[in-house]
Amino acid sequence: MTIELRKSVSTRTTPITLVDRTSLPAVAARLPAATQRWLRSIDFVGAADRHVLLPDEQGQMAQVLAGIGDIDDPFALAALPGDLPPGDYRLSDDGLALDPAIAAHSWHMGSYAFDRYKPRRRTTARLLLPSGATARRGLAIAEALTLARDLINTPAEHLGPQELAGAAQALAKAHGARFKQIVSDELLKKNFPAIHAVGRASVRAPRLIELQWGKPSHPRVSIVGKGVCFDSGGLDIKGADGMRLMKKDMGGAANALGLAAMVMALKLPLRLQVLIPAVENAIAGNAYRPGDVLPTRAGLQIEIGNTDAEGRVILSDALAYAAESTPELIIDLATLTGAARIALGPQLPALFCRDMRTARTLVDLGLELQDPLWHMPLWAPYKAGIESSVGDIVNTGRNAMAGAINAALFLEYFVPPDQDWLHVDLFGWNDAPRAGRPVGGEAQTIRTLLAYLEQRFAGPAARG
Ligand code: BES
Ligand code: MN
Ligand code: ZN
Repeated sequence: MTIELRKSVSTRTTPITLVDRTSLPAVAARLPAATQRWLRSIDFVGAADRHVLLPDEQGQMAQVLAGIGDIDDPFALAALPGDLPPGDYRLSDDGLALDPAIAAHSWHMGSYAFDRYKPRRRTTARLLLPSGATARRGLAIAEALTLARDLINTPAEHLGPQELAGAAQALAKAHGARFKQIVSDELLKKNFPAIHAVGRASVRAPRLIELQWGKPSHPRVSIVGKGVCFDSGGLDIKGADGMRLMKKDMGGAANALGLAAMVMALKLPLRLQVLIPAVENAIAGNAYRPGDVLPTRAGLQIEIGNTDAEGRVILSDALAYAAESTPELIIDLATLTGAARIALGPQLPALFCRDMRTARTLVDLGLELQDPLWHMPLWAPYKAGIESSVGDIVNTGRNAMAGAINAALFLEYFVPPDQDWLHVDLFGWNDAPRAGRPVGGEAQTIRTLLAYLEQRFAGPAARG
């Protein structure tokens, strides 16, 4: 483990003193004159994500001075664990005081590497923190984000629908949740025809994964995640560039499991349902085709304009099923459209919801927690653009415009009008590295959604 919560932390560990540009002079003034000259000569001024190792007179490591830009940054310490020499560290009392949740969270995230195939080049430094509810909360959240990243980073060869179900089952077991899955032709018998149609061309059987957790007396919340373990595009096959990252097309499912892990670890007073339609969008003689008209659980007939718009097709059955238990809230998370990425780029997932006030609350929370999302409209007049002449609706728009809105409007058909619902269209990937956020799979919006669930269902007391 790269972080440990202890009742008491030994003073034999190396202290890390947190400084910023304002507090550095006072800290430096307490150091030997030679050290002060050294800090000036290397131009260490306490800037964010820069640190300096200081020796004692015997040449042993005495302490670390680490620059912090924003004390509320959930990635405040993230640059340290990979850079510091291996060993045990603690936060010194001389420096800026960091919220233990942020300390635990940022250190754990800064230690992240996807090392399933390629071992780490060196051991990461270990932080010893006094244990307490706040530190435990920060760590629980970081562990959930790590789960989501690992699932996204795992190649499709090792994470098909069955392995995704295995990950959900393991999570259920860890938290005493119930796990169920409906596999292959059972999907037809139990009336999930759209999930079956998209997944039937793969030798890896499609399925609907379901977790249930929490007391029956608590408010119901359903979290739905798009679980396309690989998106080749189907018969409307993607080009090489477009297909390259499509192991991450289960990013919605990974984030749904990450959010569920947080809810369960922090024991929110919810009755949670997680639904993951898990498929591989593959090509074979029995693949669904452009022009096909497919029945859905909700009864609507959907015309396939393009087999690469598969996410909304499988989500239609999952959303219809989620609505059947009339939960207080349905949240769906999906790597649904390239159009959302064109509009907002990799760092800003698109949020769609019917209620403007809820959208504003979520956008504000996202900015505050540095886990942003941005509101886009369910622009009703564009529904005309997804009407079908042979079925009820078509899974592509009339043209290339407003692709993310078209997809969201398509989903909206499967959510009853009075059902509270949030739809998040996300990238699930860091395309450029930042401290604690290496290139690769990324959890997005789930810290914000956790805070929203706490605010709405657990009251302010539970947030701490
Ligand atoms: N999984 C993709 C969307 C995607 C692509 C997300 C790249 C993130 C990065 C989705 O299944 C898809 O292929 N959507 C098509 C829909 C189109 C055919 C209407 C798209 O966005 O191009
Ligand atoms: Mn696709
Ligand atoms: Zn897809």
